[in-house]
Amino acid sequence: MEILKKAASLYGTPLYVYFESTIRDRASRVKEVFRGTNLFPTFAVKANNNPVLLKILKEEGFGMDIVTRGEFIATKLAGVPSTSIVWNGNGKSREDMLYLLEEGVKIVNVDSFEEMEIWKEIRPKGVEFFVRVNPEVDARTHPHISTGLRKHKFGIPLDSLDDFMREFCDMNIKGLHVHIGSQITEVEPFLEAYERVVEMSKKYGFEEINIGGGWGIDYEGKELDLEEYKKCVVPLFREYKRVIVEIGRFVIAPAGFLVLKVILVKRRGDKVFVVVNGGMNVLIRPALYSAHHRVFVLDKGNFSLKADVVGPLCESGDIIALDRYLPDVKKGDLIVVENTGAYGYSMANNYNSTTRPAEVLVKKDGTISLIRKRETDLDIFRNVVM
Ligand code: LLP
Repeated sequence: MEILKKAASLYGTPLYVYFESTIRDRASRVKEVFRGTNLFPTFAVKANNNPVLLKILKEEGFGMDIVTRGEFIATKLAGVPSTSIVWNGNGKSREDMLYLLEEGVKIVNVDSFEEMEIWKEIRPKGVEFFVRVNPEVDARTHPHISTGLRKHKFGIPLDSLDDFMREFCDMNIKGLHVHIGSQITEVEPFLEAYERVVEMSKKYGFEEINIGGGWGIDYEGKELDLEEYKKCVVPLFREYKRVIVEIGRFVIAPAGFLVLKVILVKRRGDKVFVVVNGGMNVLIRPALYSAHHRVFVLDKGNFSLKADVVGPLCESGDIIALDRYLPDVKKGDLIVVENTGAYGYSMANNYNSTTRPAEVLVKKDGTISLIRKRETDLDIFRNVVM
């Protein structure tokens, strides 16, 4: 991992480092799993909005799944055509609808009766709608990233679909959309949800379907078994003229590493805190979802020290990793956090008036290039009016 050290010495820490070859490998894997279907793969920009990375995925034949105007702009910077964009979300405003229509967005996942009423007033030409249904299937993932139960805010219940189709029979509805959650590591919930949705989809004679994302990766030993997924799930979609998927984490998480520097090692009795120079401001997943990310210390072996890796911010929840066995870490050592390519930078924030990190890309030929500058202290205050 010399390259991570080199990147940190060139661009400082905290630093997000992405590997182009991993992104391309993971993108190929998605296409390979769906071989034999008419796949239209899209990348969920919420997972990572760096236009340089989006451009790589565009080259791999991916369209983009966006939720906001900001995410749309990221795709434009990456040169993605508007016709390759799928627009998601449960709160699309009329202003944003008019803006994105004007920009040429053509595929929309509609989340509710109330949303479709606004579309009906606008009467957009050439837009293809997919109706997001809520199949009432438990994704068995973290509650905050689970979306497929009646209590969740997303989609319309399958038993309301008849009413929906009747009410909006004059809208250009091309198919159903379903997304039951993220970081799903079992095939079963996918299968259960998709079987229900495919049955409904057949009832309406739809020739297209959007099956969302949610593939779970190996954060701590368990990941989605893609061979089983390929065997059990993919055959459901062979007949469709277009199968849209919206994958974020699977493609980009393992391609990213967060490099942090040890500020000091604090010992209090038998408790050891390794304090690093970035916490819930640079990677909020451990604080928000008690997420586990593997960490390692560059250039050191011999795992003898049990410690918590914590950030420098003023909250006890400001953690990176709890109860880990680490080498004998010293001030100035570099700690690397794995699988941080997804929902890492895209959820980074300025809490405690800290600056967001820089991002670099390690290209296929091994060269390192800066793809986003570190924020400056003044950036944080640039919108203040005094
Ligand atoms: N499609 C829809 C409609 C979604 O809501 C999402 C993710 C995706 C696709 C992509 O899911 P993926 O393939 O990345 O699992 N911040 C959380 C994850 C939130 C996911 C939100 N929706 C985290 O850090 O775990």
